[in-house]
Amino acid sequence: MIEEKTQYSGGGAYWDKRKSPVMGDMRQRPELLKLLGDIKGKKALEGGCGTGFFSRKISALGAEVYGCDIEQDMLDTAKEVEKENPQGIKYDLCDIKKTVYQDGFFDKVVSVGVLFHLDRNEWQEYLKESYRILKSGGELIISIEHPFIFTKFSPTRNSKKCWAVHTSIEDKNYDQSQLFEEKYYKADGDLYTTNLWHHPLEFTVNALVEAGFCIEEVKEIVIEKEDLISEFWGTDYGYPAFIQLRVSKK
Ligand SMILES: C[S@@+](CC[C@H](N)C(=O)[O-])C[C@H]1O[C@@H](n2cnc3c(N)ncnc32)[C@H](O)[C@@H]1O
Repeated sequence: MIEEKTQYSGGGAYWDKRKSPVMGDMRQRPELLKLLGDIKGKKALEGGCGTGFFSRKISALGAEVYGCDIEQDMLDTAKEVEKENPQGIKYDLCDIKKTVYQDGFFDKVVSVGVLFHLDRNEWQEYLKESYRILKSGGELIISIEHPFIFTKFSPTRNSKKCWAVHTSIEDKNYDQSQLFEEKYYKADGDLYTTNLWHHPLEFTVNALVEAGFCIEEVKEIVIEKEDLISEFWGTDYGYPAFIQLRVSKK
């Protein structure tokens, strides 16, 4: 059965990753884990942790993990899993732009599948807050949609069938920020519709530098043939779908 969902509120059960994966689980999240490096014993925050899927992966690497999210229902599912299989993850209800943590509290702050919800001003607020809660020498590690997928050359804008379908709402040029409608298919064919932001790469990189971060590593995540495990995800591969940045606070 194909259902359509439009909000995260009340979405705790829907986004319970123990049920059906999404495309980003195939390569985006495993690659991001590698980018975290050795985090054993380190204090790490997952900003926008949702139901805790990625927080649990970080915790399994030996980090002391905190997860925060603005949706109580998502956190309820995360806490339910934590109760069933305790890993010592602490979950907090708060906005990634204005968290509850002290200055210099974390060694690592990480976000995956979240930042497309932020407009330009919100991005700047988020970077300022991440800088504040990181220790000196700490790292911010983010995984975002590759700006390529918002261009007219992307399979997500052209193919009949694809893991995501992007429709331009404002019809602006690549070099401007603009909202897209995204239809996102889980592996089982369930469909989630949301609006998300495209920002040109120059905005993202310049915003990181202006916030005081030093760029340490950049990784582009290309969709491979073996990622296409669902009939709902189409057959196009070989193009960049995500980009990941590891930056440090000096
Ligand atoms: C697609 S889910 C990703 C969840 C998780 N990072 C994962 O990889 O499974 C996006 C999450 O970001 C959260 N979110 C969006 N904007 C946020 C904000 N400003 N502060 C905190 N969480 C936010 C949503 O509530 C949702 O749970």
